[in-house]
Amino acid sequence: VADEQSSYRIGTDTAAERRERARLDALARVRDPRTFTLLERCGIAPGWCCLEVGAGSGSVSLWLAERVGPAGRVVSIDVDLRFHAPPPANVEVRAADVVHDSLPDGVDLVHARAVLQHIPEREAVLDRLVAALRPGGWIVVEDGDMRAFEAQALPEPMATVHRAMIEASKARLGWDPYLGSRLPDLLRTRGLVDIDIVGDTWAMRGGDDSGEWWFLALEHVADALPALSSVTRDDVAAALALARSPGFVMLGPLSIAVMGRRP
Ligand SMILES: C[S@@+](CC[C@H](N)C(=O)[O-])C[C@H]1O[C@@H](n2cnc3c(N)ncnc32)[C@H](O)[C@@H]1O
Repeated sequence: VADEQSSYRIGTDTAAERRERARLDALARVRDPRTFTLLERCGIAPGWCCLEVGAGSGSVSLWLAERVGPAGRVVSIDVDLRFHAPPPANVEVRAADVVHDSLPDGVDLVHARAVLQHIPEREAVLDRLVAALRPGGWIVVEDGDMRAFEAQALPEPMATVHRAMIEASKARLGWDPYLGSRLPDLLRTRGLVDIDIVGDTWAMRGGDDSGEWWFLALEHVADALPALSSVTRDDVAAALALARSPGFVMLGPLSIAVMGRRP
């Protein structure tokens, strides 16, 4: 199994790049409205310094840049910047690994969405992100919990294919599909105050942003999955065809956002 097929990292062939760009854009369109509401609640204001972790398409970084204005600054980091939108002058886009590379300090606001769940060193990363905050600074972390998603009754072979994808990602990549539910405790035990928690789910449909952020990821691992599980390439194709058939709808994962302030 080629590593890039089974890993989160995206290959350099243009079909894989197109798929990842479409996936990140779909994810941003589905999740940005809630994210922006939460970032507003932190009191984001002109002049603030913000750190966007695992920026992906950069949609949140660009929104933050407008809010902090020319007197403010956004540091937008990702290990893979190929999909990041061109930044305005007050956004510094950095190729950086949040596990090892240096981070800014005295930050007013840190945001990480759908990132920590993918990083095995997530707890050490959270320590680093909290340490980057100024006293009184806010952190907003958003991750999924797949429990209800896994419990729903889906037709075969879709149920088996989803299960195989979740299991393979856990075993091979150190993905934590339930991290969202652990976030409140992880932030509280790091001494954060004024913690609030928001969770929601939505209807996933194929051919639509609501579902394609996941179905495109399934397409990405379609060639690798048969070597990691009992599913075949035909099973994956059948699951994708079903997901994209007219009228099909399924329950999305619970997406949990936790916000807290450094005292
Ligand atoms: C599921 S995407 C989420 C993108 C974006 N946060 C969003 O919600 O639209 C995860 C992102 O985290 C990045 N990433 C993964 N591991 C990382 C690390 N160790 N340091 C920095 N970025 C990382 C990936 O390259 C990818 O862009």
